[in-house]
Amino acid sequence: MAASVIKAGVRLGSSQWTGQSLTQNIDSHKQPKAQRVSMPIRAGSYAEELVQTAKTVASPGRGILAIDESNATCGKRLASIGLENNETNRQAYRQLLLTTPGLGEYISGSILFEETLYQSTTDGRKFVDCLREQNIMPGIKVDKGLVPLPGSNNESWCQGLDGLASRSAEYYKQGARFAKWRTVVSIPNGPSDLAVKEAAWGLARYAAISQDNGLVPIVEPEILLDGDHSIDRTLEVAEKVWAEVFFYLAENNVLFEGILLKPSMVTPGAEHKEKATPQQVADYTLKMLKRRVPPAVPGIMFLSGGQSEVEATLNLNAMNQSPNPWHVSFSYARALQNTSLKTWKGLPENIEAAQRALLIRAKANSLAQLGRYSAEGESEESKKGMFVKGYTY
Ligand code: 13P
Repeated sequence: MAASVIKAGVRLGSSQWTGQSLTQNIDSHKQPKAQRVSMPIRAGSYAEELVQTAKTVASPGRGILAIDESNATCGKRLASIGLENNETNRQAYRQLLLTTPGLGEYISGSILFEETLYQSTTDGRKFVDCLREQNIMPGIKVDKGLVPLPGSNNESWCQGLDGLASRSAEYYKQGARFAKWRTVVSIPNGPSDLAVKEAAWGLARYAAISQDNGLVPIVEPEILLDGDHSIDRTLEVAEKVWAEVFFYLAENNVLFEGILLKPSMVTPGAEHKEKATPQQVADYTLKMLKRRVPPAVPGIMFLSGGQSEVEATLNLNAMNQSPNPWHVSFSYARALQNTSLKTWKGLPENIEAAQRALLIRAKANSLAQLGRYSAEGESEESKKGMFVKGYTY
């Protein structure tokens, strides 16, 4: 009951949102108009830069290369080509990706894990500088991963708010200009109201802290592909999750022009009996976004979530067949890296071919961002699905 009263007071998408506290909102009908507390959105000292950063990342024909796997997850990638998970191999892999000639034509930002943000190439160039040379914004994963959420239906919550302000200030000094926080929502496990609220609140606190320290927050409540539910059920859950996320973003006075979103596409569950066509995925996903995302938000940068490389590109292409209120693009990890990783196999003589493979994927997604992609001539490897049940990042 109380929640519906509170929510009725929120005007989504207004850049002049009045930031009343919950109590002020509930009681406001009792106060004479003149006494109501009305606060303009807190612009913060970085406001202009945030807007500029978000615009650069959301620039036409470009998207994000996500290589922010934690050491454990990067280890899984390396294990798939028979390599040991150590710092040297992680550095070699990231060096291959980040020094790909011509990458900046298709890639506007790259999300790094902390180790990579502070790392250099084997010949001593900072990775951050390699990116800047190609006009690619360096980004940083700031969350500390998922842990079980007590009191929920076996769901999880995302850690990392403690010390986030000082960490973010350090990341900014090191050259990062945007941040990522990935939390997840599971459809087969509910999702419970508690898990959705916790995910949304955590994202909003993170977003406010990031903006306060000059980093554009990527807001990522990943709705996991796991499950046998229909696409309609995914739509219903996605609408609930994004409504809650925008409610708390507004509550926390987050500047909408200085954020980027990283949603999952609206698809049926991975174990559902029918697969959706790119047209269906586009229709459902855009319907959900248009209902929930204010046009003040500059960019929607999708995750790939276990789709094959080609599938993720086809779906993005279908979403860009007519103009959208926001830049609709990609922030893929698996769907950009897979063929490149498999081509490399850890062998120095394969580096150039692996970089070419990355460039092919980056270009394909760049074309999809512009709505001009065709899957003709794509390799068999790029059509392989990468869904992993209960995937962690
Ligand atoms: P995938 O594209 O592999 O789902 O990665 C998502 C992600 O959050 C990477 O930053």
